[in-house]
Amino acid sequence: MRAIITGVGHYVPEKTLTNLDLEKMVDTNDEWITTRTGIKERRILAKEKGTSYMGTKAAQVVLEETNTSPDEIDLILLATVTPDMPVPSAVSFIQKNLGATNSWGFDINGGCTGFMCALTTGAQFIESGRHKKVLVIGADKMSAITNYEDRTTCVLFGDAAGAVLLEASKENDLGIKDFILHLDGAGAEALTIEAGGSLHPASRETVEQKMHYIFQDGKTVFKHAVIGMADVSAKIVERNNLTDKDIKFFIPHQANYRIIDAAAKKMGLDKERVVINISKYGNTTAATIPLAMSETYQANKLEKGDWLVLAAFGAGFTWGSVLLKWAID
Ligand code: ACO
Repeated sequence: MRAIITGVGHYVPEKTLTNLDLEKMVDTNDEWITTRTGIKERRILAKEKGTSYMGTKAAQVVLEETNTSPDEIDLILLATVTPDMPVPSAVSFIQKNLGATNSWGFDINGGCTGFMCALTTGAQFIESGRHKKVLVIGADKMSAITNYEDRTTCVLFGDAAGAVLLEASKENDLGIKDFILHLDGAGAEALTIEAGGSLHPASRETVEQKMHYIFQDGKTVFKHAVIGMADVSAKIVERNNLTDKDIKFFIPHQANYRIIDAAAKKMGLDKERVVINISKYGNTTAATIPLAMSETYQANKLEKGDWLVLAAFGAGFTWGSVLLKWAID
């Protein structure tokens, strides 16, 4: 049994935070942000809403598009680093909002690689014959963990959600064909939110020291991201006896335009075959890949049988690639 994507959708909040807005908040400028990252603006979710709100919206688009009733869903996987709260999992709220009464589910924290961790986990449940329909969601409210006084991070992140429906298919030539995933804890300290967990529970000190915000050693992450993403993407193409010419689109995690560009160059891909929407949304962590895939689909650029390579790098360090053959007509 093969896991194929039968629907894809996304949700982005209406409110936009532009580079010009950020110029008024921290010591930065549009020119620096644009040339160093490729980002022009990002979306910000309302304060009173959590990640599950966006995840629900993206999932509803997919259910509608595929004409699927919520009670047909067997499993919902949510990739996120910003659950609504530590307990319960944010997917609990999504399951309730959707009315997916026959589904179980759990959150997956794979940093920016989270969506691929969830996608490949979902695919395994389908390939094993255990489940027929799995919703895979990547959603993050990065604005909730961003320090808008720190110019080195606040220009990078935004809020969004994307989702796909995975279904069991007997068409063995389509769907999720291969994946490579890595975890290297040696990079753990380069990208963290230190407090709010069991090691540093919330206290007056942790709040005063701003330990609940995201911190990253940008240069270290950048260096590893370029090498990691390019290596796994080239490897997955090669080990499936394909060449870069066979790949219709490379859909990478959107953290920095320069990382994407360097990875694509290493793979020998020309610009037309690299999906880039970072200028509009910034880094939305687990949401970037399904969001980019959904926009590509909506623009009628995908045809049944197209080869796609997904790739990401993020906190952990985690990184990996997924090779899939598009299954929607
Ligand atoms: N505006 C103006 N100047 C800035 C800004 C800003 N917003 N931010 C930093 N600078 C300054 C720095 O202070 C530094 O000044 P100095 O030379 O006087 O010290 C200078 O610009 C260069 O800073 P660098 O950090 O060296 O800039 P770099 O070119 O490395 O770009 C960036 C920084 C954009 C963060 C880059 O390193 C990057 O994209 N890293 C990887 C991000 C990533 O992939 N994250 C993984 C996913 S996230 C996840 O998993 C949740």
